[in-house]
Amino acid sequence: MSAMTLQQFLSREVQFGAMDPKLPPVILSITDACKTISHKVRQGALAGVLGMAGTENVQGEDQKKLDVISNDIFVEALCASGQVCGLASEEVPEVISVPADYPIGPYLVAFDPLDGSSNIDINVSIGSIFSITTAVRPKREAVEADFLQPGNRQVCAGYVMYGPQTQLVFTLGKGVLMFTLDPNTGTFVLVQENLRVPAEAKEFAINCSNMRHWEAPVKRYIDELLAGETGPRAKNYNMRWVAAMVAEVHRILQRGGIFMYPRDNRDPKKAGKLRLLYEANPMAFLMENAGGRATNGHMRILDIEPESVHQRVAVFLGASEEVDTVTGYHAQ
Ligand code: F6P
Ligand code: MN
Repeated sequence: MSAMTLQQFLSREVQFGAMDPKLPPVILSITDACKTISHKVRQGALAGVLGMAGTENVQGEDQKKLDVISNDIFVEALCASGQVCGLASEEVPEVISVPADYPIGPYLVAFDPLDGSSNIDINVSIGSIFSITTAVRPKREAVEADFLQPGNRQVCAGYVMYGPQTQLVFTLGKGVLMFTLDPNTGTFVLVQENLRVPAEAKEFAINCSNMRHWEAPVKRYIDELLAGETGPRAKNYNMRWVAAMVAEVHRILQRGGIFMYPRDNRDPKKAGKLRLLYEANPMAFLMENAGGRATNGHMRILDIEPESVHQRVAVFLGASEEVDTVTGYHAQ
């Protein structure tokens, strides 16, 4: 196993001319923020960070204290990097500007500072998700329109998972890397390069409590998986649902499988539950870089032209054969 630290890895990339020297400060500000969040997550009630904040985010979801604390940690760290011109956070309705006393840089960062909020208070895996793009109008303070670029323009995306270990998984668009936070030294150390998702799946993840609301192609696909050996797929599948997208993606990147959060018939105007810019796009970029696939049931998630910063999207991601199958059912 290589003992390369994140800092060493990024320096090497810059040295070989494989990375803009302005990008490592952005990535390191995110991972520093995640180290602070990881520390607070591990202290839990002892740091007084559990429970509700008494506020709502733009989606009308109740904010937990740790959602708000994590957002503030991300904003502070990224602005201090000196390399961003605007931020978009799940927890903040408007695009976040860089305060006047910080320099403005070329990058835009969209993030979900704490994913899987319902797991916070019960000590189950949660994470932070980030997506970095280059501003079309660099050096100018970003407005919402600057963020409305398709996911195929991401230069770096990933997440940090706060599980039994704190791990960083990210891509620069050429493979997926995994680092573990060494609690003794406070550094992220490379543990795996080139994560690959097997083409075939043995496991699926979907919130089955919504089954009665699903659209026909999703019902058909899940019915076939549930039919097991005697059904058209002629094999048995296992099911998992952690209720934190970071944890589902983390499992799929290592062990394979498919994750779905489809749109359903409850509210036809709602395109799904998950958000395009800071949940679906970064995870789609990771999946494709690991040899997997990510669609909204109709098209590649990374090719969707966003219309607003907080827009929602249906998500099917993971093993290529499975994502192709369920996407194909939508076309029929
Ligand atoms: O951010 C939304 C999210 O918490 C995801 O992390 C997770 O996959 C999903 O919602 C869980 O949804 P549900 O509440 O339907 O289980
Ligand atoms: Mn989330």
